[in-house]
Amino acid sequence: MMTLSLNLPRLIGHRGAAAYAPENTLASLHEARRRGAPWVEFDVKLSRDDVPILMHDASLKRTTGSDRLVAETSWADIQVLDAGSWKGAAFVGEAVPSFAAAIDCLGGLGLGANVEIKPCPGREAQTALAVVEMLQHRWPASLPTPLLSSFKDEALAAARAAAPSFPRAILIDELADDWRQRAEAVDAVGVNTNGGKLTAARAAEIKAAGYLLSVYTINDPAVAVALLALGVDCIITDAPDVTAKAIAS
Ligand code: G3P
Ligand code: MG
Repeated sequence: MMTLSLNLPRLIGHRGAAAYAPENTLASLHEARRRGAPWVEFDVKLSRDDVPILMHDASLKRTTGSDRLVAETSWADIQVLDAGSWKGAAFVGEAVPSFAAAIDCLGGLGLGANVEIKPCPGREAQTALAVVEMLQHRWPASLPTPLLSSFKDEALAAARAAAPSFPRAILIDELADDWRQRAEAVDAVGVNTNGGKLTAARAAEIKAAGYLLSVYTINDPAVAVALLALGVDCIITDAPDVTAKAIAS
């Protein structure tokens, strides 16, 4: 297992602070900061012309109203879309941020990040390479080392090959017995998983093996407290203020 120091906090804002602002936007990063998140998680994929952007879905439809696929749309066409109105009148005109703009925003806010590499189908390695290249050139030295994660092991393998020093976490909805094999294959330091499906036995196994354990998406304060009691290191939440209050006591 690689040993580069990773200062993972106990709490990470999900897609920024998705309970309060349009997910994966700069407004959401600001909201996360305002509500006490030390780090944020967000999703990065590539536009048709290979610009890394913050976006969860393969389609632009849900968050921008545009019925097109991200992988088939140029950055010029994406950056003029409104990614805020769906979340309410206060966010009309909020843009889809480039990964570069998001990094600059994090630098200004002093926020760390779990960068989820979320490739469009078939673009696993390409997306990972764009992410690590951007981090190498733009990640502020003042910020803690970011954590890379992905549901796609192929993306993590490509990230490792290109930039082995960025710590990685496997990202798995429901863990199976092969989790350790998958973690070792990409030299991961962490396991990120669906907190609603994590068993006490699996949490104990992961911690005994020396991995950092993070869970998403936990918005119920009592559930967050219970997961920490199982040995979970980090709670990824849409509502960082609520979760921070619950886990502080
Ligand atoms: O990275 C944790 C979590 O964001 C993974 O699921 O679908 O919200 O990206 P998703
Ligand atoms: Mg995500």
